Amino acid sequence: MKIAIMGFGTVGSGVKEVLELNRAQIEKKGGEKIEIKYILARREHIPGIPDELITTDFSVIENDPEIELVVEAMGGIHPAYEYIKSCLEKGKHVVSSNKAVVDACGSKLVRTAKEHKCNFYFEASVGGGIPVIRTLYHNYAGENVMEITGILNGTSNFILSKMKDEGSTFADTLKEAQRLGYAEKDPSADVDGFDTSRKTAILLSMSSGMRCRHEDIYTEGIRNISDIDMSYAKEMGYHIRLLGSVETVEDKYFAYVAPIMVGKDDPLYFVNGVYNGIRVVGNCLGNTMLYGKGAGKLPTASAVVSDIIAAARHKDHFQGIGWSEKMIEIEPMGSNAFRYFLRIEGTAEGIKKALKAHFLGEGEELCPIVLEGRQDEFAIVSTVLFEEDFLSRMREFEEETGRRVFHFIRIKGMTEE
Ligand SMILES: NC(=O)c1ccc[n+]([C@@H]2O[C@H](COP(=O)([O-])OP(=O)(O)OC[C@H]3O[C@@H](n4cnc5c(N)ncnc54)[C@H](OP(=O)(O)O)[C@@H]3O)[C@@H](O)[C@H]2O)c1
Repeated sequence: MKIAIMGFGTVGSGVKEVLELNRAQIEKKGGEKIEIKYILARREHIPGIPDELITTDFSVIENDPEIELVVEAMGGIHPAYEYIKSCLEKGKHVVSSNKAVVDACGSKLVRTAKEHKCNFYFEASVGGGIPVIRTLYHNYAGENVMEITGILNGTSNFILSKMKDEGSTFADTLKEAQRLGYAEKDPSADVDGFDTSRKTAILLSMSSGMRCRHEDIYTEGIRNISDIDMSYAKEMGYHIRLLGSVETVEDKYFAYVAPIMVGKDDPLYFVNGVYNGIRVVGNCLGNTMLYGKGAGKLPTASAVVSDIIAAARHKDHFQGIGWSEKMIEIEPMGSNAFRYFLRIEGTAEGIKKALKAHFLGEGEELCPIVLEGRQDEFAIVSTVLFEEDFLSRMREFEEETGRRVFHFIRIKGMTEE
């Protein structure tokens, strides 16, 4: 099978490397030789690559009937979308690692593939090397997937892990992550949750079979997590993780991206550094967990190559993945329920009645947490409340007592099986 790679950066060059490194095995499993005929780049020379492989003209790839599969590893929505669509319309299989294009146009591209009896695969777009996409639409095809919750962004997980280990501030840890090459110069997509939000939208699409816009998912990043929050989390036996989560309850869909306190009963507690972890709860399977490198040259390229092999095996027909263009309706953030960790001004003395009345359930005991050496604030953990209710209780508490709530963080346990 002759293929083209569009975009020869980290992922594109990794695909070439994996195809060379594991050539014999890949050809055996795919059933044929896989040969790179073109590399689409914006420059005419790439060190170490023969000039005859390089083209700067997409139409050369599009119009070559020998090309049966195209890897898109350019990133961004345009012109990636137009290039992918045009290749599918010509009956060429496309494998993409690009979450932006999959999130924005994935269901349309799957339909185009179906109409032209070819395939659009995108395993590497979520979780890098972790095989979560195929697991959801293939292995879990017979499961009623109730929840998917994951650490989907290695950069923010690296920052949160380091803040906990070293007691450092967000700003200092971000600088360190940038110095080590784990965070971009503009870290917004990672630390403000947008990267996680796109991946969460793709996971919701895979579990629901419907179209989902990441803009409709409540998204909160980790910029407001302080070293003080982290000290409380440590004291309480929690870790703070940036989670992307989707839940299905009967016909209702819930989704959010936010920093969440997780305890040791949740395997996500133990996912440290740049690693990703994705916990899936099925009605028959119960809790399962996928863990591994969510980014990086070879892990991501390995997922792309697994898609190339899938395409070689399903060369002459469309492999349905059950993704329709019907738009999903996501319930508002206010209808999600959590327990809440709250940091409150002053001491608990004199306001215990108000704390209990606003934040605790009947018969629950008030247990204020005070960090050593801090007299200016304390923390409590609320009972389980719907977010809308919690926010109005918090406003009422502040008005009634004149005390400020400095910060709150949601706490989430594992879904009961
Ligand atoms: N890196 C990872 O670990 C990882 C993991 C999972 C998914 N992904 C996704 O994979 C995609 C690629 O990521 P990457 O890290 O490989 O990015 P990258 O290193 O920036 O590589 C992208 C390459 O595509 C080229 N390119 C962009 N537009 C082009 C165009 N119109 N024509 C020809 N070439 C073009 C760029 O060329 P120039 O050098 O000229 O700009 C660059 O060489 C992204 O969607 C990313 O989100 C990446």
